[in-house]
Amino acid sequence: MEYKFSERVLSLKPSAIREIFKYAADPTYISLSAGNPAPEAFPAKQLGEISAKLMAENPILALQYSTTEGYVPLREHLKDYMKKTHNVGRDFDDLIVTSGAQQIMDLFTKSILNEGETVLCEAPSFIGSLNDFRSYRAKLVGIPMDTDGMNMEALEKALQTERNVKFIYTIPNFQNPSGITMSLEKRRRLYELAKQYGVMILEDNPYGDLRYEGEPLPTIKSFDEDGIVLYAGSFSKVISPGMRVGYAIGPKPVLAKMTVCKQGQDVHTNIWSQVVCYRFMTEYDFDAHLEGLRAIYTKKRALLLDLMEKNLAPHITWDPFNGGLFAWCHLPKGVDMMAFVQKALEKKVCVVPGTAFLTSENEPCDAFRINFSTPTDEQLTKGIELLGETIREMI
Ligand SMILES: Cc1ncc(COP(=O)(O)O)c(C=O)c1O
Repeated sequence: MEYKFSERVLSLKPSAIREIFKYAADPTYISLSAGNPAPEAFPAKQLGEISAKLMAENPILALQYSTTEGYVPLREHLKDYMKKTHNVGRDFDDLIVTSGAQQIMDLFTKSILNEGETVLCEAPSFIGSLNDFRSYRAKLVGIPMDTDGMNMEALEKALQTERNVKFIYTIPNFQNPSGITMSLEKRRRLYELAKQYGVMILEDNPYGDLRYEGEPLPTIKSFDEDGIVLYAGSFSKVISPGMRVGYAIGPKPVLAKMTVCKQGQDVHTNIWSQVVCYRFMTEYDFDAHLEGLRAIYTKKRALLLDLMEKNLAPHITWDPFNGGLFAWCHLPKGVDMMAFVQKALEKKVCVVPGTAFLTSENEPCDAFRINFSTPTDEQLTKGIELLGETIREMI
């Protein structure tokens, strides 16, 4: 059989980094390439208690079909929670529960983007979202990043010159992959520019609660008096990615269209997970849980910074990251990034080549991404030492 794929997905190719992920699954390699929460970060005991009680007392709630928009108590709780804690949500907004934030990228793009229309995104940006935009044949235009977020002059220029810009995609907190956080000034400017040019903003915030230093900044959605921001939230990094629970907050007509699209994808998000999520948030001390996560990752980040100072500086530099799960490291001039990643692989350490996060994998790139949440302290120590050895052999 000759399989003829649709034009929409024809250009989606397995990327060069797939090769590296293959090694990441091999236990003889040290993987600094994943983006997973630390194994010790899961509230497994509490989730087990909730699940057991649910199955004993109300199994039909968890096992029956449910509504596409999401479990009502969870939706109501999240609306209230996001209003109180982040000033997110106005009368014109609604909230739907989704199967992770990844599904929001898909439903939103499917709902509003025509083939060939443009998405402005940070360069670099999250590969899962970029691939999703690509699958709808979006034209992706990368806006360079400064250490305090997207370069606003470049953004304004793109808004002036690019045709048919449909939305701006941003991860304002501890961005994946760069770890960078957008300043308050830039958040306001981004909102004003989007408003001025009549384009929407897709604000993706899975790492916002994982801040280890400095004061939290307001979400862009909290400025939204005009119905131009769609906010994507996720429990993947703060409860469990395996539960697949995320939530979108945005203008009612946009969410209504996304809901129809969701019916054709998965009917509804796993209701068992939704109930467990709701009960974990309301019957346990969710704030204390978040504090616990921050304590785990604050230690891991401090260890990574110390190891990088000792082993990678001054040859390799990194962008500031006050939260999240990643460090974005720059190689010195003259060192080929792919050659560095390959050489590290020969020493059995996996990092992700920066090109994976660009709108075109062929663009030049001097950076690679390190994840510090998944490896043990011993693996992190050994891994960074080996990266240090690698760079010293290459300069
Ligand atoms: C920036 C960003 N957005 C979205 C996602 C997808 O998260 P979810 O597990 O909620 O689908 C990730 C996952 O790593 C991410 O890093």
